[in-house]
Amino acid sequence: MVHSSYGRLEQAELPVPSLKDDQVLIRVRAAGVDPGVFYRMTGIPYMMRLFGFGLTRPKQPIAGGDVAGVVEKIGEKVTRWKVGDEVFGAAVGGFAEFVAAKESLLARKPAELSWEQAAAVPTSAVTALRGVREAGPGKRALIVGAAGGIGTFLIQLHDGEVTAVCSGGKAALVRRLGAAHVVDYTKDDLGTGTYDVVYDVFGSRNVNVLRKRLTPNGKLIILGGMSKGKLTGLGRQFRAIGLNLFVKQQLKVLIAFPSQADFEDLRERLAAGALVPVLDRTYPLSEAKQAIDHVMAGRARGKSVVTP
Ligand SMILES: NC(=O)c1ccc[n+]([C@@H]2O[C@H](COP(=O)([O-])OP(=O)(O)OC[C@H]3O[C@@H](n4cnc5c(N)ncnc54)[C@H](OP(=O)(O)O)[C@@H]3O)[C@@H](O)[C@H]2O)c1
Repeated sequence: MVHSSYGRLEQAELPVPSLKDDQVLIRVRAAGVDPGVFYRMTGIPYMMRLFGFGLTRPKQPIAGGDVAGVVEKIGEKVTRWKVGDEVFGAAVGGFAEFVAAKESLLARKPAELSWEQAAAVPTSAVTALRGVREAGPGKRALIVGAAGGIGTFLIQLHDGEVTAVCSGGKAALVRRLGAAHVVDYTKDDLGTGTYDVVYDVFGSRNVNVLRKRLTPNGKLIILGGMSKGKLTGLGRQFRAIGLNLFVKQQLKVLIAFPSQADFEDLRERLAAGALVPVLDRTYPLSEAKQAIDHVMAGRARGKSVVTP
């Protein structure tokens, strides 16, 4: 599925990608969908076009960023993988039958996981993992946007009591994942309690609204940004960074770039059954646009994937 111009996604026949020395060729079995796929497809927020995504059209025309699949071929300097290995990880251009991926941004797929579950992991679970590391252990946490791609991993990864904020129909899901309490934001916004940590996953609320749910020394961790800002999309984040200089609470903005260590950490938890991906919908690759639209409607229940 290619976006040769911003905003258009269409099916096309392309050659199998060639490999750099540190890359492997993966036969894709499933590819994860997250809001990042939409941003790369549309080039919005516009600021990302200045940061290497392509000024007038996408530099990387194939959509997708997370995959699970089988190693089909290896680059000359690849040492970690051999043909036939089953892997998952980050691979830009994953909405395809084949994709080239950096060997360090892959981990072995635990046998317990389906292809779809493994493809659901990379971006969302790495982001959750980084959030949890920023929070530290033993903290009482409020997760705003708890039932979506990042949130369903975050509930499971956070080390401490979790209160999940989601729409009422997802209360049973977030409780099953380990949330001790649930706030239905459609009735009670963020509730009335205060917490050591607030994870802002959905990313639509004013920073001062979120701060009211923090203890005096609490930490706000901003992960998401479902804002309407088309220029940078980061207006709230910039305001939080500025405000952080003047308040006692800590206001952190976190952008997660995955590493080999992250994927290894997640692989261990997945193999031990301590982390279980929640699958929302599976779409055929030809319906990738519908899959992206579903995620961007903002009502996800876990993760959606596409399969070639
Ligand atoms: N920081 C990073 O490095 C990083 C990496 C990846 C993604 N992100 C960003 O993180 C954000 C979330 O990503 P995601 O994949 O988790 O999204 P997602 O899968 O679409 O989940 C969003 C969730 O938010 C809930 N929600 C909708 N409106 C809400 C509201 N007003 N208040 C509270 N919850 C609400 C939705 O369900 P209900 O309404 O039914 O509860 C849904 O479950 C996106 O902005 C994405 O771009 C950041």
